[in-house]
Amino acid sequence: MEPTPPQASLEGVFALFESCGHLVDPGDGVTQLEHALQSAALAREGCAPDALIAACLLHDVGHMIEGAGGEHHEAVGAAWLSGCFPEEVTEPIRLHAEAKRYLLTKTPAYAEALAESSLESLEFQGGLMSTAELSRFESAPHHEAAVRLRKIDDRAKDPEAASPPLDSWRMLLARLASA
Ligand SMILES: [Fe+2]
Repeated sequence: MEPTPPQASLEGVFALFESCGHLVDPGDGVTQLEHALQSAALAREGCAPDALIAACLLHDVGHMIEGAGGEHHEAVGAAWLSGCFPEEVTEPIRLHAEAKRYLLTKTPAYAEALAESSLESLEFQGGLMSTAELSRFESAPHHEAAVRLRKIDDRAKDPEAASPPLDSWRMLLARLASA
């Protein structure tokens, strides 16, 4: 893997997909690039605002930065992206693993929508939320966007899906990026 620059830039994001987008998450069966493109396309279909579309596209960059086995991809990705994207993009990303814990705690049937790998990672992500954790999550800015991102994330694992290419999101990302 290419060394990751300390702060993201628009071109750095494209370079990361170029060098690592082919990596396949064994639990998901699609590449990082396919998963990202499906997520963005689903967000657009759902009339999400541009910041949430960008968050969906970029939500797993931490996996490409950390490599296989990384346990904090949401924090790693959000921290890196905060170098050039606003919190409307980075906060839903930072919270999307917490959003899984939140949804499973509030709605146990949500487990049926999850891939086996997502259920397996629940344990080291903290398991179900306590009452205090629930209220802390609900008071976090952008937590609703994180829940929306999470539900899209869970659906964006179709090996047969055809999605618009990465370059089709360049203008949207450029409008949001500051570097
Ligand atoms: Fe994901």
